[in-house]
Amino acid sequence: MILITGATGNVGREVLKQVAQSGVPVRAGVQSLGKASVPSGVEVAVVDYNQPETLRSALNGVDRVFLVGPPTAQLPALERKAVDVIASPDVRQLVKLSAMGGREAIFPRQHAESEDYILSSGAPYTFLRPNGFMQNVVNYSSSTIVRENVFYGSEGNGKVSQIDIRDIAAVATRVLTEEGHIGKTYTLTGPEALSNTQVAAVLSDVLGRQIRFVNLDPSQLKQALLSAGSPEWSADALVDLQRLYREGKAATVTPDVEQILGRKPTSFVEFVRDYRESFEPRAQAAV
Ligand SMILES: NC(=O)c1ccc[n+]([C@@H]2O[C@H](COP(=O)([O-])OP(=O)(O)OC[C@H]3O[C@@H](n4cnc5c(N)ncnc54)[C@H](OP(=O)(O)O)[C@@H]3O)[C@@H](O)[C@H]2O)c1
Repeated sequence: MILITGATGNVGREVLKQVAQSGVPVRAGVQSLGKASVPSGVEVAVVDYNQPETLRSALNGVDRVFLVGPPTAQLPALERKAVDVIASPDVRQLVKLSAMGGREAIFPRQHAESEDYILSSGAPYTFLRPNGFMQNVVNYSSSTIVRENVFYGSEGNGKVSQIDIRDIAAVATRVLTEEGHIGKTYTLTGPEALSNTQVAAVLSDVLGRQIRFVNLDPSQLKQALLSAGSPEWSADALVDLQRLYREGKAATVTPDVEQILGRKPTSFVEFVRDYRESFEPRAQAAV
């Protein structure tokens, strides 16, 4: 039995779906049952890392775990609490959703700390380090793309080899259901690195209307994030990530996805074709 934590989140939800499709018994770990929407036949268990007894009981009969922490200031502390429970003889694989970027920005540094903790725990691990998600364009920028045909950032001309969450989930499904991935670290990227000007060109081409990228000063971006309700820590972390992108430090393209899946990762043009409706005015009006 595999436990997928963070099963209501962007990545966990997709991993749950794909592992369930593989036919391997799987349990969804969710913080609140109210949010749970799981494929039929999938067991659901409450998992709150702040209440270790919930995780302990969700692990009953589980031998592999997919660990997801929230992108907040609390991530390292929450994952430490989770690892303290997961690192037991019954669990023969802990697959941690980490991040590409080493210790060069706030978000990836948190994940590097968490990886260190897992290494010191002795748990049999697999680390998945994805680059930025293609779906961030939907989650963070589709509203302005729909309203103004514009999206904003402060990454300048920096290129990013962003990855489709569906490919991260496909890799996670393989490493959770096959042997041979213990002690391995995979850095997951898309097939190419694009600047936001190139992203705008792909969006324009697929959507059939002109979409522009507007580069903001980092302080302007922070102000916009705060005005949109982002907590200060999150705004600072996002601005810091844009700095990493601007410096060209997230442009590496790795072969890991293709080596594991035996096919190329999804390109950004394929992604926009699949998510086209998210960028159309009617889709937003319905939200
Ligand atoms: N966005 C990117 O480009 C990117 C790139 C690389 C790596 N990452 C990393 O990927 C990870 C997942 O991202 P995501 O977009 O899937 O995040 P997400 O949608 O915010 O999902 C986070 C999940 O964690 C759960 N959670 C929150 N607090 C919890 C707690 N105390 N106990 C148990 N579960 C808890 C949430 O449950 P609720 O829904 O109930 O709150 C949710 O299911 C993050 O760690 C992020 O740093 C992101």
